[in-house]
Amino acid sequence: MKGSLLYEGKAKKVYHVDGEPNQLILSYKNDATAFNGKKKDRFEGKGRLNNLITSKVFEYLKQNQISSHFIEALNDTEQLVEKTTIIPLEVVVRNVAAGSITRRLGIQEKQPFEPPLVELFYKDDELGDPIINDEHAYHLTGISEEELSQIKQMALKVNSQLLQLFKVAKLKLVDFKLEFGRLEDGTIVLADEISPDTCRLWDLDTGEKMDKDVFRESLGDLISVYETILQRLEENTCAK
Ligand code: C5P
Repeated sequence: MKGSLLYEGKAKKVYHVDGEPNQLILSYKNDATAFNGKKKDRFEGKGRLNNLITSKVFEYLKQNQISSHFIEALNDTEQLVEKTTIIPLEVVVRNVAAGSITRRLGIQEKQPFEPPLVELFYKDDELGDPIINDEHAYHLTGISEEELSQIKQMALKVNSQLLQLFKVAKLKLVDFKLEFGRLEDGTIVLADEISPDTCRLWDLDTGEKMDKDVFRESLGDLISVYETILQRLEENTCAK
């Protein structure tokens, strides 16, 4: 079923599916990178955890009428998705200030954003994924005003859904990054992954960081933290 390798990124490999030209297999790697690839490591079990966490999150979003590329988890490290052409935008939603916005704008960490803030970054490793405005996005990606507005609305809807999902799992959703892709007919759907690699999650009771910042800031054992996220999501989704 798994065909030839189409693309290898920092966190995933993408394979064709034999006989299914509109599907792809995403294979999650154990590699971790931060600061645009300047910090690198490998963690046994990380690919499995991100695949299983992303699968749970996309299944939950599907139940809540958010269309995405996700079809199903195939095994511990791989998932089947609809083939999309990725729009080179990183759409970041922020509920609380952390990370790059604190450095870029001098905003104190933990300051809440009400309503949540949506930021656009141009997905380009060589340029270091610079922040861009709407006009840059039209020019650089060819999307229309209506499509960008649809993307921002979807990002905010995903945020409302995920705030609830993670709250039940005793986690504060601080911020996260989404990517969107086009199906063959041009429809824009949510794509890529949603995992502790792409979200900031703080323990609701202790405020402890439970995401890739553990790796970025060398705060402890990444795998046990990601394992806890998966367990809490499983308890939460089993209870429903
Ligand atoms: O670095 P920054 O604070 O802008 O990141 C905001 C959110 O987007 C964080 O949750 C981070 O993990 C995620 N992100 C990502 N991939 C990137 C940049 C940011 O998943 N290339």
